Amino acid sequence: MKTSAIILAAGLGTRMNSDLPKVMHKIAGRPMLLYLLDTLSELELEKVVLVLGPNMEQVIDFIADSGFKVDIVIQDERLGTGHAVKQAKKNFSEYKGNIVVLYGDSPLIGTNTIKKMINTRNETINPAVVVLGFSPNDVSGYGRLILDKPNSVEKIIEEKDATEDELANRLCNSGIIVADGRIFFDLIEDLSCENIKKEFYLTDIIGIARTCGRECLVVEGTETELMGINSRAELAVAETIIQNHLRQVAMEKGATLIDPSSVYFCYDTLVGKDVVIGPNVFFGPKVRVSDGVEIKAFCHLEGTTINKNCTVGPFARLRPGSNIGEDVHIGNFVEIKNASLGRGVKVNHLSYLGDAKIGERTNIGAGTITCNYDGYNKSETVIGSQSFIGSNTALVAPVVVGDNAIIGAGSVITKDVQDNALSLTRAEQKDIPNYGSKLKRMRKRN
Ligand code: UD1
Ligand code: CA
Repeated sequence: MKTSAIILAAGLGTRMNSDLPKVMHKIAGRPMLLYLLDTLSELELEKVVLVLGPNMEQVIDFIADSGFKVDIVIQDERLGTGHAVKQAKKNFSEYKGNIVVLYGDSPLIGTNTIKKMINTRNETINPAVVVLGFSPNDVSGYGRLILDKPNSVEKIIEEKDATEDELANRLCNSGIIVADGRIFFDLIEDLSCENIKKEFYLTDIIGIARTCGRECLVVEGTETELMGINSRAELAVAETIIQNHLRQVAMEKGATLIDPSSVYFCYDTLVGKDVVIGPNVFFGPKVRVSDGVEIKAFCHLEGTTINKNCTVGPFARLRPGSNIGEDVHIGNFVEIKNASLGRGVKVNHLSYLGDAKIGERTNIGAGTITCNYDGYNKSETVIGSQSFIGSNTALVAPVVVGDNAIIGAGSVITKDVQDNALSLTRAEQKDIPNYGSKLKRMRKRN
């Protein structure tokens, strides 16, 4: 049987206290919404409809850029989850398949759980709705599933409308359902808003289906997959769940994380085998780390490719556009941006390499800086292979240093340096014999 999905994301997300639509808040570097779209993309759905509120252009633009095929409908007034679903009715005329309804603020659900629900929906008993329930540690805020026989849901009651007895029930509503598309919108038509919040609750369709003589079944999932994100505190809990998962995956692939809980990955971080990652390392988007690399404590990396057997850090910052060749050593307090470093380059202390190309086995001395920005434009520094850049050199871009060149310490290089040349710009040293001891004597007298 065909299946389609409706994602509800028109809510104001009031408890986030944010100007950003809730589904655009990020977990491990990507908006919540993308987790759902990614999960759904594995299900070969007929269509995906996203219900948004007015003034959510950011989400619309994001969807357009994402490459996912999604139909967008707008819920002009936020009159509840049932009313939100109703906005998608026109997208499903004559539709006879299954409809999965997901909440944009419960983004961690996995494909297998949805498949399990679809299978239950397709059982011969032909339930009108399959509800995904779970038993979280903290049940507060969730609707409760009221069962009248095993796996059979009689109704869902929202916390604010529940009696003491109903609240004692710990089986909660995740919000995710799979419904029979042939009657789904008829059930929605029968919703009323006679409740504390004066909203049309989607959850009430269970009771309505039951009075029509149709069965409603429950499938159970886990809290780590089903928690709802309504506040920044819950967003942080979701972040921890995803981070733990990403840490686990990295370790399974053969990386050692000395203190896993202090390493933060981005959803797209790729880490190879026999990689060692020290404590307090943060990965932003688009980082790829090849086999045998060691990243020491307190490094921050984004938009960077690190090839085999490099060592990085401690305290290094690799910014977007960094391409680090094999066997490179990057030491403490080194910042690299939009630069490629050839195999075996060493840049071990206190340097900034921005908009640069460094050839193989070149040594960049302590405190070397590429002066890549003149207040208006960015310019490039190119250094050949096997060159030696003395400590505290300022390379004023645009500038080219050849192969096998040597730059004397403390130089300010403004002109190109030829292959094999020695270049230095420092002021000449003057020595005054015995002046040191003379000064000392004078000071003692005073
Ligand atoms: C909802 C469920 C509750 C469940 C919980 C799980 C209802 C009535 N309650 O409660 O049983 O335990 O989720 O996390 O469904 N939305 C709209 N338009 C609206 C209102 C909401 O699109 O008019 C969207 C929101 O953007 C959100 C989702 O629907 O993505 C759920 O709404 P929310 O207000 O967060 O519901 P909860 O109170 O969390
Ligand atoms: Ca919610």
